[in-house]
Amino acid sequence: MADLDVLGIAGSLRAGSFNRALLRAAVDLAPPGMAIRAWDGLRDIPPYDGDVEASGLPAPVQAMHQAIAAAGALLVVTPEYNHSIPGVLKNAIDWASRPAGKSPLRGKVVAIAGASTGAMGTVRAQDDLRRVLRAIGAFVVPSPEVLVGQAGQKLDPGGRLADEPTRKILGRLLEALADWHRRLGR
Ligand code: FNR
Repeated sequence: MADLDVLGIAGSLRAGSFNRALLRAAVDLAPPGMAIRAWDGLRDIPPYDGDVEASGLPAPVQAMHQAIAAAGALLVVTPEYNHSIPGVLKNAIDWASRPAGKSPLRGKVVAIAGASTGAMGTVRAQDDLRRVLRAIGAFVVPSPEVLVGQAGQKLDPGGRLADEPTRKILGRLLEALADWHRRLGR
């Protein structure tokens, strides 16, 4: 078992997703003592419905809660849709935030990153993601910001992160995640 088990969540369902590829790169770039496991349950999370919640969390939501609770820290990799985070990701986070005050995200250290085909590399989506996670009581690693713009030029057709500066900054983010996890004693 690693010193720090990190749950990786990519906010895209697309098989050829740049963000899923970025998460795969992070798995390979994890520093010594860290193991990152990519979560693949996003597609199974139903639309949030308070009536459904009142009658018990659906099994895929329970599985997500357990995966988050079991992880020492999280890495969330988000696309940018219309200057914000994709609905599927926000929906999953909304379920993960319940019940209010008892979310498995509360107190977790979370690193965020993102890739887009635009020039600004998800800066607006990441701002929103920070705000949403803060609302739930997660601690978001402040820097470095991993903003992968024009992702098609940085990931090769096989989905490998070829761009060396991006590999470097992603590695630095993972080191910062381990460092903040240690500092905060989580
Ligand atoms: C986009 N895209 C996009 N890109 C961006 O930089 N800023 C944006 O606001 C948007 N908005 C947007 C909305 C919608 C509905 C789609 C489908 C796409 C482009 C986006 O960056 C691109 O499709 C990425 O490839 C999506 O991430 P994945 O699926 O490759 O991980």
